[in-house]
Amino acid sequence: MTTTYTKEELILKAENISLQYDKLILRDVNFEMHNIVRPGMHQGQVLSLIGRSGIGKTQLFKIMAGLIQPTTGTVKVGVEQQPVKAGDVGVVPQNYILFNHRTIMQNLEQGIANARVKKSAKEQEEMIKEYAAHFDLTDHLKKYPMQLSGGQRQRVSILQQVLTGNHFILLDEPFSGLDALVIDRVVELLLKVSTLDELNTLVIISHDIENSLAISDSAFVLAKEKDKEGATITQKLDLIQMGLAWDPEIRTKKPFIELVNQIKYML
Ligand SMILES: Nc1ncnc2c1ncn2[C@@H]1O[C@H](COP(=O)(O)OP(=O)(O)O)[C@@H](O)[C@H]1O
Ligand SMILES: [Mg+2]
Repeated sequence: MTTTYTKEELILKAENISLQYDKLILRDVNFEMHNIVRPGMHQGQVLSLIGRSGIGKTQLFKIMAGLIQPTTGTVKVGVEQQPVKAGDVGVVPQNYILFNHRTIMQNLEQGIANARVKKSAKEQEEMIKEYAAHFDLTDHLKKYPMQLSGGQRQRVSILQQVLTGNHFILLDEPFSGLDALVIDRVVELLLKVSTLDELNTLVIISHDIENSLAISDSAFVLAKEKDKEGATITQKLDLIQMGLAWDPEIRTKKPFIELVNQIKYML
């Protein structure tokens, strides 16, 4: 199957990122993402940044979110390519930050309150209800976060970011701490988010090779190079060119399974 698509304007660029604490964590990290357009499709882009535990993924997540400053380099986002500041991109941290003393509805209202495009109270409520249905949260709107499972809380956290209207959403380890069936639903949901709007862009930061690759159109490996300090991008995979993107049956395909195994040895 061939899919026609074009790579258009630059929407994210990480340039010469390094991060030094008492030791060098990240070294010379460079990558970019383009808006991908498929005729007749509402198709956002999904990038995975894959690396083993402790390699520096969460630090890179915070740099891309504008939450910490790198020692050198810049991250620029959006078609305007401005240096990223906190609040410019949606973030779903590993430990979702919900207000425990507020209901799910109130937590979601918080998401909309931060939206760039302001809406009337009635429009807000309708939008929350419509999305809650997509996210399978309708029955939980009156509950408090502690009354929900980990998977449900994660859906609330992702929905909060979608409701802000932000096109960029960064997710740190979205598959960890969830059981296999719940992971399948998260995968489905992320795919749904990526097709809500052509400019929606998801960056998945994860050590879970298979689940990350299964929904991505590109994947970068963050790893250490022999005898060098600090992690850098050691592989850039264009899954579209490899014929491994946008295929719901991808997990059963031999080239995909082989790629997952190859990446295991790169981490
Ligand atoms: N504030 C900090 N000061 C010093 N070292 C830190 C700090 N935060 C994280 N680190 C170190 O940075 C490295 C990468 O951490 P992290 O980005 O959380 O890894 P990952 O998310 O890939 O598991 C670890 O060795 C960690 O101990
Ligand atoms: Mg981490």
